[in-house]
This record gives sequence, structure tokens and C-alpha cells, in this order.
Amino acid sequence: MPYLDNAATTFPKPVRVTDAVRNWLESGAASPGRGSHSFAKRSDDAVTMTRKNLARFFGVPSEYRLIFCFSATDALNLALKGFLDEGDHVLISSMEHNSVLRPLRGLEKRGFINLEIVPCDQQGRLDPDDVISRFTRRTRLVVVSHASNVTGTIQPVKEIGNAVRERGAYFLVDAAQTAGLLPIDIEAHDIDMLAFSGHKGLFGLQGSGGLALGSRIKTLRPWREGGTGVNSLSETQPREWPDAFEAGTPNVPGIISMGEGLAFIEEEGIDAIRKKEMEHCAEIWKALSSLENVELYGLPPGEERTAVISFNIKGWEADDVGNVLTYNHDVHVRTGLQCSPLAHQTLGTHPDGAVRISPGFFTTQDDIRRALKAIKTVAEILVPF
Ligand code: ALA
Repeated sequence: MPYLDNAATTFPKPVRVTDAVRNWLESGAASPGRGSHSFAKRSDDAVTMTRKNLARFFGVPSEYRLIFCFSATDALNLALKGFLDEGDHVLISSMEHNSVLRPLRGLEKRGFINLEIVPCDQQGRLDPDDVISRFTRRTRLVVVSHASNVTGTIQPVKEIGNAVRERGAYFLVDAAQTAGLLPIDIEAHDIDMLAFSGHKGLFGLQGSGGLALGSRIKTLRPWREGGTGVNSLSETQPREWPDAFEAGTPNVPGIISMGEGLAFIEEEGIDAIRKKEMEHCAEIWKALSSLENVELYGLPPGEERTAVISFNIKGWEADDVGNVLTYNHDVHVRTGLQCSPLAHQTLGTHPDGAVRISPGFFTTQDDIRRALKAIKTVAEILVPF
């Protein structure tokens, strides 16, 4: 059963992740900060330790600036709705996911902000000069996906961050595809806000993620309000960070899973994980590019990219290829637009999208061999009329 959809969710998870979540569930899965009993204290300790470790990992200046969220989308909503003011001009790249595009289009429709999309080239690369040339005196925020979930194209975030900062604006990076996979130091990369998911490169569970805030972010409005376990007498949201942004019972198993995933990454080495994934990418790319009727998108291996590969087979709908791979060959990939219609417009694959194959650290040679054999069968033998 080759699972090649790690860009959506990494699977399987490291054993230590499953063990840690199971141990917590079996030994008093209490809510942190919601009681003084020892079960609550244990959960609280796990959350605090993970917060500290993730803050260190992303170079966040203080652990209070590491906000737990329920996904990268949740984190992006907090960043966008909590930071932007009326009349702000916002620049985004043309490779953004709907998690960035939709909240911004919503704000734009209400007349709250002005949104401008900076075109990337056909490989999905964003030129920092193109970002800067669109600056107006109202430009306050630039939002860029660190790596595309369609082509894996990695953007030059340090260069963009630096240029944005020089002009006095702020920089939000969507690291859904790169957190845990590429080294990120928000202060060194001039990133003001970094949204990350827990269930991809960090090997955690779905429903986990966070927002890391750099030292230039002084105020942020919460977009979710409610109980935080502290200051319960107050009828309004506490102002202290991170409590101000974390209303509702936190996803403790998700947070524990991210913490253990991070420990796994540090044990294996982030470079070793990336190297292994890129070896898989190179092998898949080489095999697919030798098939006459396969069209590959994005940069070849060796360039600035992650291991996510998108392709189409001439004469086939991407969804049909995905169905044949799943139901006839037990090979699991993702097809369609991958929630990134803007990226597919950039690549010229809108509106049908593409077949996306995303190997992970646990992908085996046998998985790749079976997947490539299946794709070859579809491409060479089952040619539709
Ligand atoms: N955005 C995720 C993906 O690319 C879910 O599949």
C-alpha cells in the first residue's frame, strides 16, 4: 500500500509519537490549566515543554510568542485577522494556498484591505524584486508560502524578508510544507510571523499547528475568544500572551505529538530527513521524465524544491489517474487542485489540476517501485482514446 501523500499528512508517524500520545491517553488525559490536580499538571507540563522546544526550534525570541493553533490555516487566520488594519495593502505570491487566499479575499470583499497578487514564474518561483516593485505607501504585509504544496518550489524567504523589512512592512510565512523539513530561524530570516502545521513535517496529529511571532510583532488581536483557564473573573479576553490567543481546551494530544515529532527530527537530523526525501524525489522525477506522455511541473531535483512532485498524463484527467492508482494498484496520491487554484493558474494546470506524488521519510524503495510501475501502466498501456 504505497502511501505517497505526505504533503497532505505524513504517514506513518514515528513510533515515539504514537507511544507518547497513547501513554498520555492511558495515564490521565486531563485538560491543562483547568484544575490543580496532578493529571492537569502533567498535561500542562507537556504543553509547556513542547512550547519551549518549538520556540527554540524556530528561533522564536520567547516561548510566549509561540501560539498553539489547530492547524496552519487556523494560525494564518489569526495572523491575518489579528494583524491587519483597515486600509492595509497586502501582497501575496501567486503560489498561495486557499488558507491564505480565502481569508484575504474575505477581508477584501468587506472593503477592509487591498489585496494584490504578485505573479511567480511557471516553475512557481517568486522574484523578490517583483514583490518590492509593487509596494505602495499602504503596503503593510507580505505573505508567502515557504514551499508550494503543488510543486515543492522553495521561495527565497530570507531575501524577501530582508527587503520587506527594509521598507518597514511585515512578513508572514506559511510554513505548512516546510516546518520540520527545512531549518527555519524566524529572527535570522527576517520573518515576523510563521504559521506551521503539526501533521506534516513535524510528524504530529491532524488538528495541531501554531503561529510563531517575531520580536517586531507588538500587538495582535485574538480572533477566537473564550475560556483560557486563567483570569476567569474577567469578562473579556486576557491580554497576556500566549493565553490571549489560545481560548478553548487545547489539543493536548496534538501538541504532545508535535513535541515528540520534533524530538524525532532532532534525533534523525533535519538534513538527513531532507536528504532521504530528496533522493526519493530524484528517483521519481527521473522515472517520470522518461515517460513520453507525462508532463512534470515545477523545478527538477537539485534546485530549490521539496520532494512534492506534480504531473499529468496526456489524455488523462488527473482525478481519473488518481482513481486508477488507488483502486487498481493500491497506490495513494492526491489529485486535483490541492486547495491551491492560484498555484495551478500559475502552472497552467487550472482548473483540472494535476496528480501529486509526495514521498516522505518513511517511504520505502518498494513503495516507489510499485508506484512507478503503476504510473507507467497508466501512461503506457491504458492510453484512453
Ligand atoms: N494542503 C494540504 C495538501 O496540500 C492538505 O494536501
